Amino acid sequence: MHMQFIQEWIEETESTNDYLKRKLLEGSGTAGLVVAAKKQVTGRGRDGRLWISEPGKDLTFSVALRVKASPEKLPSLPMAIALSIRETLDSQYQIQAEVKWPNDVMVHGKKICGIISEALCDHKTNTTILLVVGIGLNIGMSPEWLEKINQPATSIAIVSGISYTVTEVLDRILENLPKWLSVWETCGFRAIQHDWLLHERRLLTHIRVGHGHKIRQGILTGYGPNGELLLRDDQGFLHSCVYGDMQVEDFEVDTGYI
Ligand code: BTN
Repeated sequence: MHMQFIQEWIEETESTNDYLKRKLLEGSGTAGLVVAAKKQVTGRGRDGRLWISEPGKDLTFSVALRVKASPEKLPSLPMAIALSIRETLDSQYQIQAEVKWPNDVMVHGKKICGIISEALCDHKTNTTILLVVGIGLNIGMSPEWLEKINQPATSIAIVSGISYTVTEVLDRILENLPKWLSVWETCGFRAIQHDWLLHERRLLTHIRVGHGHKIRQGILTGYGPNGELLLRDDQGFLHSCVYGDMQVEDFEVDTGYI
């Protein structure tokens, strides 16, 4: 995988994912290009949700990655990226974060980072896929802006009391990312499973997983070979979930999956 990144900072765009996808389709960008925006007008979250970030204070960027992988291996790539960001928060900012399936980074049960991965094209001959991975990390978000988010969220400034610039945090993230991408490239989720289990806190707890209107409840019993969430429902049936959002009723507000 391409491990050298080129950064392009822009003042404003609707969504860095859309901006980067346009560039790649026009041929004015290639794998390794990172587009970061000071302001994102209509940032996109997973499942068509809006991603809110405070202009100039939070990090919103997308990276183009060319990966050689079978489609079933792909969902675990953002999991590796979540682990990379968790590690950067710990090593650079002394913030103890955890990961949450499918690919969120949380601090004290509140979301600090979200990741969305979109495939641009699929050259079926050699199974090389160009991906645009969008990452939103709350850095300086103030309590007033946090109130606009319809789920428990936090920022580096709130948990550490320190203001960091978006440019410096992006540099730190990109320094650590290649290590995790190459680990993931060796054998996908299996290569990161140990770290994932070490840094997630929901194993063997009662959870709900929602995808669209379908909601399953049960015990999180583990993860499948490609990072699928394995849930045992109250009747004892085991379900393998590839997509969805996970909620733990204990300490999360019911957001109704919006
Ligand atoms: C999620 O948790 O729902 C994923 C959020 C991803 C947000 C980032 S911000 C940069 C990039 N551009 C977007 O429009 N979305 C991603």
